Amino acid sequence: MNVLGIETSCDETAAAIVCDADTGGGTILSNVVLSQLDDHRPFGGVVPEIAARAHLDHLDSIIARALDDADMTLDAIDGVAATAGPGLIGGVHVGSMTAKAIASARGLPFIAVNHLEAHALTARLTNGVAFPYLLLLVSGGHCQLLAVTGLGAYELLGTTIDDAIGEAFDKTAKLLGLGFPGGPAVQDAALQGDARRFDLPRPLKGRAGCDFSFSGLKTAVRQTALKIEGTASDQDIRDLAASFQAAVCDTVADRCRNAFKMFAETCGTAPPALVAAGGVAANLALRDTLERTCTKNDIELVVPPPALCTDNAAMVAWAGLERLRAGITSPLDFRPRPRWPLAELRATE
Ligand code: KG4
Ligand code: ZN
Repeated sequence: MNVLGIETSCDETAAAIVCDADTGGGTILSNVVLSQLDDHRPFGGVVPEIAARAHLDHLDSIIARALDDADMTLDAIDGVAATAGPGLIGGVHVGSMTAKAIASARGLPFIAVNHLEAHALTARLTNGVAFPYLLLLVSGGHCQLLAVTGLGAYELLGTTIDDAIGEAFDKTAKLLGLGFPGGPAVQDAALQGDARRFDLPRPLKGRAGCDFSFSGLKTAVRQTALKIEGTASDQDIRDLAASFQAAVCDTVADRCRNAFKMFAETCGTAPPALVAAGGVAANLALRDTLERTCTKNDIELVVPPPALCTDNAAMVAWAGLERLRAGITSPLDFRPRPRWPLAELRATE
């Protein structure tokens, strides 16, 4: 089964073709991602109107390239999947309308994909991970721990009570003058920084449950930056970036340990695997921390390669393929949803 996937929910215009493999996972036949970073950089963040127009300008040629790279035509495609939310609604409309048009013209099934489910299922594409598993979803707009018991079956165990984790990275980068996008910039600066130099808070660490909070940490970074303002050397900035990243990793590890217990209470078994997904899962320090935490608790850690953690269309094609395989398709009048929490998702919609 070959599925064409389209991703346009933020600032990446992407198309990919994925097929199912005998091993249980999938095979990526092509994966084209056009980043709009240069269009948005002058504004220090993603501008929704610019993003939507750029998707419109480039999506057709990106789809043509995905077909070309996979060495196939639309004749070989069995279904068309597109991110239909959550995300910046202008872009989401461009992607889903294009997918619907192709599906309608070709008489193919259309699959409306929840962007978060696409992140959540990526580890099944890359590693054939079986249900159930514990999911740590860490992206620009989310920070959640969920029990994944099947397709469209997500039980929320914990979530951020204020900022998303990617947002915390992006704001810290801005504050430290490290540029945009913030996550990779903080990671690079932290590489040569001393993580013990600044004593930053670990919000909610030691408390029950597995919710997250990042606003207090962000404030502490701002206050520290203000104290050294004017005299801050490049090394001071690198030390502050490293101290921030260490505080984030420490907090996430603490929340995951509680989630292991909550998963066991919910599912009646310890989580066989912890899957990390979303853009922040590309962070190498976080990967190291999760590896140590999982090893200590005898839980397998699965993190897709960095390029499949950040937004891409292979994950959308795969989520579409999983739904198509289960006999779930979407009507052509499916309304894209700017807000679409994973825990509200069902296997039937
Ligand atoms: O999943 P994603 O590509 O888009 C959303 O669906 O939000 O995640 C984007 C987020 C941004 O906040 C970005 O700064 C962060 O992921 N990110 C990282 C890294 N690469 C991307 N954060 C920390 N370290 C990284 N290496
Ligand atoms: Zn994403």
